[in-house]
Amino acid sequence: MRKSQGISYAKIILIGEHAVVYQQPAIALPIRSLTVTATLIPRTDDRQQIASIFYQGSLADAAQTPFAGIATLIRRLLTFFEAPAQGFDLAISSMLPPERGMGSSAATAVAIIRAVYQAFDAPLPHDSLLNWANVSERIIHGNPSGLDAATASATAPQWFVRGQAPTPIDFPTTGSLVIADTGVPGQTKTAVASVAAKLTQDPAHYQPLIEAIGQATSQAALALAQDDLPLLGRQLTISQNALRQLGVSSPALNQLVAAALNAGALGAKLTGSGQGGCMIALTKAPAQAVHLRRALEAAGATTTWQYDLVESEDPS
Ligand code: MEV
Repeated sequence: MRKSQGISYAKIILIGEHAVVYQQPAIALPIRSLTVTATLIPRTDDRQQIASIFYQGSLADAAQTPFAGIATLIRRLLTFFEAPAQGFDLAISSMLPPERGMGSSAATAVAIIRAVYQAFDAPLPHDSLLNWANVSERIIHGNPSGLDAATASATAPQWFVRGQAPTPIDFPTTGSLVIADTGVPGQTKTAVASVAAKLTQDPAHYQPLIEAIGQATSQAALALAQDDLPLLGRQLTISQNALRQLGVSSPALNQLVAAALNAGALGAKLTGSGQGGCMIALTKAPAQAVHLRRALEAAGATTTWQYDLVESEDPS
């Protein structure tokens, strides 16, 4: 093992969350200005130490903590590389707020997998990276579609259908997204399980909402291809209405969505698993995003970020 570093990004789901679990398409983008960095340094003794804002301590003691899923991933990676007793210091530094729909757990997994592969000088095919990320995502989230890991490991926006290889999708170069945090944590596992329960109890009522989100996502792809920001905005709001009826919005999210639309946003919706976390709103141009951020902060957003769509261009 040698010293190594892995990097990944925050993800924002533009459209398609929850429905993507049930085979509908989704569109998500990595936010390259918000990174997770995993730095792995071998030790000469056999201590396996982790330092992060989520967990501080030994790998062995992480079993009963919220870090357990990531700890299992690390253990299985070390076993795969035939080095289960290798001592190390692993430092994880994250710019992502946890449990806010930005894919913190998937991004942490991706950064660690990259660091471990680099530490053992092993090539890491993309499908293998996504399969490894699924190990911790399954423990943390129960039934992950794989969208979060696919986006956290990408450098460009992705069109994603569960079980298929993600493909990059072009974004217009005008327009901006404002991301606003309600300040309330949202648990992906709980939100995904609540949608599953509704679909089981009353499929005739809830299945059409899943399909409506899928249709809005296909329309959003058309809007992106035709640089039609008003059409895109309308699809975001359509999907928010379906997500609200699926029970994954919240009063704080509804309030921010209403404030964004009142302030002239082309469309607005929650992003990620909901029941807390963040929302997004679309504007025609970066200049209007400044006004929108102020309106969202006045409506109670604890933090806002601006993402100009031009940033989506792949640097590689
Ligand atoms: C969570 O970021 C996105 C969900 O669609 C769950 C998933 O895709 O695994 C809610």
